Amino acid sequence: MKIDPKSNDRFVNILKSVVIPRPIAFVSSQSGDGLLNLAPFSFFNAVSYEPPTIVISIARFAGDKPKDTLKNIEETGQFVVNMVSRHLAEAMNKTAAEFPEEVNEFEVAGLTTVSSELVAPPRVLESPVNLECQLKQVVTIGEGKKAYGLVVAEVVYCHIKEDVFDGHRVDMQGLGLIGRLGGHSYCEVDNLFEMQAPVYK
Ligand SMILES: Cc1cc2nc3c(=O)[nH]c(=O)nc-3n(C[C@H](O)[C@H](O)[C@H](O)COP(=O)(O)O)c2cc1C
Repeated sequence: MKIDPKSNDRFVNILKSVVIPRPIAFVSSQSGDGLLNLAPFSFFNAVSYEPPTIVISIARFAGDKPKDTLKNIEETGQFVVNMVSRHLAEAMNKTAAEFPEEVNEFEVAGLTTVSSELVAPPRVLESPVNLECQLKQVVTIGEGKKAYGLVVAEVVYCHIKEDVFDGHRVDMQGLGLIGRLGGHSYCEVDNLFEMQAPVYK
């Protein structure tokens, strides 16, 4: 079947079902006034090693309401990406509702704040990996109420739980991270296989 995205108003569902699995950035941020915020985003990935850089694409609006995370990142330039293990899935999901800005989603989800090392927003204690991030730039994608802000940020500090990192190797299966699929589906990272990339001589 051939599909022209411009003439298929459900293309969003197709795109979200074929670009899978997507890692989830569970982002803790703070407004300029110090209001805490926590929300998940799966338009997320790592895009360079030096400097270590990640991107997250955040819709500027949910309906008429501006998304707090993008607003906070633009106001303060700092945030934390907390990676999401299976045991955190339900708590993560609770924070995805469009709460008013003054609601602290750490409390909604029953999660614990712990101070970050180099950035002001706290990290999620229950998460196995926290990436402290400093904003580099926000690239606008689309227009008006449908616009996205593609957040480009440098990872300036990293925390990994000691039971999944021996100083050299990360226990990827032990992390128990989940990925976002299309619809309401998720997957677990629990079926690994190995393959070395060939070297051209
Ligand atoms: C697993 C998951 C992934 C999501 N990914 C995104 C995303 O990549 N971009 C986005 O704009 N919203 C995404 N959302 C929706 C936001 O989490 C939701 O709009 C949230 O209320 C934003 O909160 P905020 O206003 O506190 O920033 C996702 C929701 C879930 C449950």
